[in-house]
Amino acid sequence: MQLPVAFLLLCLLGIVQALSTAGNRLLVVIEELADKDKYSTFWSDLESRGYNLDFESPKSEKLTLFQHGERVYDHVLLLPPKSKGLGPSLTPKILMDFINGDGNILLALASDAPTPTAIVSLLLEFDIHLPSDRNALVVDHFNHDTISASDKHDVVLVPAPKALRPGAKNFFAGQSPDTTLAFPRGMGQVLGNESPLLHPILRAPSSAYSYNPKDQSETVEDPFAVGQQLALVSALQARNSARFTVLGSLEMLENKWFDAKVKAPGASGEKTTTGNRDFAKALSAWTFQEIGVLKVGNVEHHLNEGADQGLVELNPKIYRIKSDVTFSIELSEYNYDHWAPFTPPAKDAVQLEFSMLSPFHRLALTPSSSGTSSNSTLYTTSFTVPDQHGIFKFEVNYKRPFFTYIDETREVTVRHYAHDEWPRSFAISGAWTWIAGIWVTVAGWLAFVALWLWSAPVRSSGPADKAKKTQ
Ligand SMILES: *[C@@H]1O[C@H](CO)[C@@H](O)[C@H](O)[C@H]1NC(C)=O
Repeated sequence: MQLPVAFLLLCLLGIVQALSTAGNRLLVVIEELADKDKYSTFWSDLESRGYNLDFESPKSEKLTLFQHGERVYDHVLLLPPKSKGLGPSLTPKILMDFINGDGNILLALASDAPTPTAIVSLLLEFDIHLPSDRNALVVDHFNHDTISASDKHDVVLVPAPKALRPGAKNFFAGQSPDTTLAFPRGMGQVLGNESPLLHPILRAPSSAYSYNPKDQSETVEDPFAVGQQLALVSALQARNSARFTVLGSLEMLENKWFDAKVKAPGASGEKTTTGNRDFAKALSAWTFQEIGVLKVGNVEHHLNEGADQGLVELNPKIYRIKSDVTFSIELSEYNYDHWAPFTPPAKDAVQLEFSMLSPFHRLALTPSSSGTSSNSTLYTTSFTVPDQHGIFKFEVNYKRPFFTYIDETREVTVRHYAHDEWPRSFAISGAWTWIAGIWVTVAGWLAFVALWLWSAPVRSSGPADKAKKTQ
């Protein structure tokens, strides 16, 4: 008896501790365990959010992402190795399988550690391109930190991302709108524009470019990419909503940049403190599914008629054409440690499609005040079923960058009117002339028959006529 209770308690404890929606087992792949202390603030921030950190060297014998076909970790933080490769337990195929198995990966790059070929080819698979020069880093002569990099201009200062795309939510901004991020000695990426799953989180300032400091020539002939072409941090959310984030500069996560004071060239007044710590929190939280995670609660549809009296059946299998129906769906958004009501970003709407092959209706769902609680928003809409019978589905297909995807469908049959459901002829005003026509004809005929029957026959008038006939 005691064992199951203890087990239950353990399970409960596990649930309480896992603050991410995707679990709390985090593997940190770091080659030199001695370097670990440089990032201690970041580790303790992660631990305070409920993660179990497991540090492993990529060369470790016992490092494995899968055991008996199951994931051993929920998330992986990959730090670039100093040596050439990542070893046999972190091949691109295994990493890809990890993502396909709903695991999340945060990959950090560094310009002083050559990116392993395995990583380069994994990134190519995602349409993320790295400079062919393995030592290339991002420099900016107008937006660098004058305190730490007055010579080399390789600590780029970027404003924290305000809006990622029109309408998208701002997960990655710092507390105040003009927070500055320090991006020291990082590697820029170029994102292919083929993939709709790929989005930059942070772009380089327009005067930045990618440059190899080992290159001795005076001028940069043919830079890998310049300005806004360069993504400093980018994100990919796979079709299964697993997340893969590339952070161009591992140094960004170091303790010394979390509270460093920086100053841009020509900036008047005080030095400012970087917003790196908040950014690192938001970035890891997004990658490991603590924010931007959507959940579908109750999905309901029913006939409008009789709904106020509670007389209708919920989620019936069959509807009749032209009946009025209401559809509602409950949506929540995870916000670090609890489910909150979900509101789409400005200028965006959650839509319902009622479709058979193609949508007959595509309607914006509106939040209903009565069904909205502290943990979810109830979206509803009402419409008239189209005059077309067949197999239809209610579908909510909401796929936006930086939110996990929603695709909910409910199938229903739409039938004809039954023979006794048509309105009676006298209920149709357009039929009145025809009905009147029939009754006028009937009445006319009766009148004629009556006239015929009750009219006396014509009497013969006299002998003169008879005589004429006999002649
Ligand atoms: C529901 O919302 C409340 C208030 O925001 C929060 O304290 C609670 O943890 C939430 N419940 C869940 C299951 O997320």
